[in-house]
Amino acid sequence: MRSFALLSLLSCISTARVPYSEYVLTPKSRTLRPSQVYNVNGTVDAAKDLTTKHSARTVFRGPSAVTYDFGKEVVGLVSFNVNEVVAPDESFIGISFIESRLWINSEGCDATADSGIDQALWWSVEPGGTYTAEKWHQRGGFRYLNVYHNTTGDVTLSDLTVDYTAIPQYSEEQLASGIQTGYFHCEDEQINRVWYAGAYMNQVCTIDATAGNSLIYLGVVNSTSDITEPLPWYNNYTISNGSAALVDGGKRDRLIWPGDILISQPGIFVSTYDMEMLRDSLDSLLVLQNASGALPYAGRPFGVEVPIWSFTYHLHSLTDIHAQYLYTGNDTYLQHNWDTYKLALNFSLSFIDSSGMANVTTSADWLRFGMGGHNIEANSILYYNLNQAINLAASANEALWDPELNLYRDNDTQPLTNLHPQDGNAFAIISNLTLNAERAVNISQALQSRWGQYGAPAPEAGETVSPFVSGFELQARYIAGRPEAAVNLTRLLWGDFMLDDPRMTNSTFIEGYSTNGDLHYAPYSNDPRISHAHGWATGPTSTLTFFGAGLQVTSAAGKTWLIEPQLGGLQNIEAGYQTNVGSFSSQVMALDRGGLNVTFSTPQGTSGNVRLRYAGRFASLTVSNLDEQNSATERKLSQRILRRQVSSDEMQEKVVTVDGLVGGNYNVILQVLDLA
Ligand SMILES: *[C@@H]1O[C@H](CO)[C@@H](O)[C@H](O)[C@H]1NC(C)=O
Ligand SMILES: *[C@@H]1O[C@H](CO)[C@@H](O)[C@H](O)[C@H]1NC(C)=O
Ligand SMILES: *[C@@H]1O[C@H](CO)[C@@H](O)[C@H](O)[C@H]1NC(C)=O
Ligand SMILES: *[C@@H]1O[C@H](CO)[C@@H](O)[C@H](O)[C@H]1NC(C)=O
Ligand SMILES: *[C@@H]1O[C@H](CO)[C@@H](O)[C@H](O)[C@H]1NC(C)=O
Ligand SMILES: *[C@@H]1O[C@H](CO)[C@@H](O)[C@H](O)[C@H]1NC(C)=O
Ligand SMILES: *[C@@H]1O[C@H](CO)[C@@H](O)[C@H](O)[C@H]1NC(C)=O
Ligand SMILES: *[C@@H]1O[C@H](CO)[C@@H](O)[C@H](O)[C@H]1NC(C)=O
Ligand SMILES: *[C@@H]1O[C@H](CO)[C@@H](O)[C@H](O)[C@H]1NC(C)=O
Ligand SMILES: *[C@@H]1O[C@H](CO)[C@@H](O)[C@H](O)[C@H]1NC(C)=O
Ligand SMILES: *[C@@H]1O[C@H](CO)[C@@H](O)[C@H](O)[C@H]1NC(C)=O
Ligand SMILES: *[C@@H]1O[C@H](CO)[C@@H](O)[C@H](O)[C@H]1NC(C)=O
Repeated sequence: MRSFALLSLLSCISTARVPYSEYVLTPKSRTLRPSQVYNVNGTVDAAKDLTTKHSARTVFRGPSAVTYDFGKEVVGLVSFNVNEVVAPDESFIGISFIESRLWINSEGCDATADSGIDQALWWSVEPGGTYTAEKWHQRGGFRYLNVYHNTTGDVTLSDLTVDYTAIPQYSEEQLASGIQTGYFHCEDEQINRVWYAGAYMNQVCTIDATAGNSLIYLGVVNSTSDITEPLPWYNNYTISNGSAALVDGGKRDRLIWPGDILISQPGIFVSTYDMEMLRDSLDSLLVLQNASGALPYAGRPFGVEVPIWSFTYHLHSLTDIHAQYLYTGNDTYLQHNWDTYKLALNFSLSFIDSSGMANVTTSADWLRFGMGGHNIEANSILYYNLNQAINLAASANEALWDPELNLYRDNDTQPLTNLHPQDGNAFAIISNLTLNAERAVNISQALQSRWGQYGAPAPEAGETVSPFVSGFELQARYIAGRPEAAVNLTRLLWGDFMLDDPRMTNSTFIEGYSTNGDLHYAPYSNDPRISHAHGWATGPTSTLTFFGAGLQVTSAAGKTWLIEPQLGGLQNIEAGYQTNVGSFSSQVMALDRGGLNVTFSTPQGTSGNVRLRYAGRFASLTVSNLDEQNSATERKLSQRILRRQVSSDEMQEKVVTVDGLVGGNYNVILQVLDLA
């Protein structure tokens, strides 16, 4: 608490240090060593020495292999020294890389292609040699590293290191002093780890822009072919004009995708505020707009070589432009891209037909199935981009709502489908297409009733749990005023399964998996291909900051803001971040007898509102401006509970708003006086 008060005071002048740096997973130096030995096959002396700086004691005797564990997901270029070789013939050392321990094997890496596995890197070794992988053989994501020796004789190795190649735009000095500008903390350690893993994973997905694209076999190697030999792999395509680019996954695809940025950009905003790298990444999509206004499904080379257009991903680019502007307040950026934006939006509108809804005619989306026709996800996303188009919302509410299940149907194709998708229903809440708060609560409960042991299912993609779409369900829960359900979803899906299951990296999140807990993702035929560091799975990082700690910017990098915390059963949450207009922070604590104690700080020259929810008949509200003496204003609230016809107690909740506050340091106490 003391450190928080200090931070608030210093926040205007200090940008380097943020509290809770002990949770940060970003390496302090680019030179990494494995943290432990996971397994030894054959005879290897002192295998553990390769995890230290000790000189040459690890000896591979005859055919043998060691699997090293970095303890978390890492990326980069491998190097090692060979001190001695005692062998009758030529000797070889091979290295391979694995994300999930499920795929450790004696032949090579896990996979990037639709079938088979990726080759190990092999060197013919001599005494005194130093061996380093070529730049295009930087592996974009692994937790385990195998070292193989495949001949008779002895080879002594030392200095097995990995040069960390992610986030290349930061210098070694910046890494040493810490690159995070935002922080988060609450009393639940698992939720803290989820927040910091999301922040870290967006860094793993920020790559050297000249080392992109791992889909080199797209359309070449197919799932039916019988591949027996490990496949070559490399990452050497220039995907943006910046020095660094935000891609979907570290290992794969290493491409710029607008859908992934929808989740990652807010995550980067609240953790490192690296908006310039994001702008360069978005620019590489916008330059590919065609004359009709269509924006690409993905960046180069995929977006130009594969003739696929996606209605939803096109709209996601528009939301990404909007977010870039919201988080930076860069008017030039908006002006510069305004024609692109308008043309693209008009193109989307041209799909609206006599039903009042858009009829989607291309199926490409986030690898869900059956995207087409008057689809609820597509129309909710369009409505999100077109807040004013009330008619569209009315049409969808009439045609697609299924009152029996309290969920929207996927589309109105006859005979009516029984598929009620997670994506469309979550987006209907986020976009407020429901036009009504009760319906939002009902949807959120109906989605929750489908949760299984391993998370929230996305039936629109088969037997799938999608961390991407669940990121939208998470937001939808807070927006529907069900924060406890949001915290529960975070624990279940991101904490218990994606962090703590032993098949995971304990530091990054998988891109998709099966509802039965298998690491199988329905759209892929090759399980080792699944990415374990996919930026689209980082939803909790921004969501916990925006909705848990309630720290939101509502215009131009925070010229206006909203403080609307929802603890959801947690006892205290702290968060902060920095933008071009200054530092923002909030600390929220539950009061013993009901209510909230919120201390927050926003920059001078800004303005904003506070919105607090409470359950109870009477409450008092005290707003103190800590920058002025004796400024406390007290308001007594004594509204009667609104009785609504809903099943949930959570609806008997009231909202109190304090508008028109100027930037500064505040304490707000909302004390519930009676819990009738
Ligand atoms: C070590 O041996 C086990 C058991 O045969 C095998 O599953 C594993 O893939 C081997 N590890 C390496 C790195 O070769
Ligand atoms: C060891 O691996 C190298 C590189 O893949 C290969 O050329 C060599 O034939 C292998 N030797 C044996 C004995 O398997
Ligand atoms: C795909 O696999 C089938 C069956 O093995 C094979 O006949 C076909 O040539 C493959 N196609 C490509 C593009 O490799
Ligand atoms: C990438 O590397 C591969 C294999 O070395 C090479 O064939 C290809 O031309 C390179 N591509 C670019 C864009 O440099
Ligand atoms: C780099 O910028 C040029 C000029 O705007 C553009 O033609 C090119 O497509 C850009 N490259 C990438 C990878 O975005
Ligand atoms: C604002 O956006 C423009 C256009 O994209 C860009 O050239 C400029 O560098 C940006 N300004 C800042 C301060 O980032
Ligand atoms: C409507 O939804 C169902 C279920 O997802 C799907 O099978 C069907 O193809 C969709 N209709 C269109 C036109 O895409
Ligand atoms: C959507 O458009 C396609 C192509 O024009 C047409 O075949 C289909 O009937 C339309 N779907 C609906 C639901 O109107
Ligand atoms: C959602 O739409 C309804 C009806 O237009 C409106 O009353 C409500 O304020 C909107 N909610 C939000 C969060 O914008
Ligand atoms: C959240 O999980 C707790 C513990 O399992 C449970 O008691 C509570 O009812 C759940 N709340 C919601 C809204 O899901
Ligand atoms: C997972 O990582 C955390 C640090 O983020 C560490 O405290 C914990 O021990 C790790 N768990 C396992 C099982 O390695
Ligand atoms: C509210 O929190 C602040 C900052 O942590 C603390 O100083 C203050 O005593 C708390 N007030 C109440 C009523 O709990």
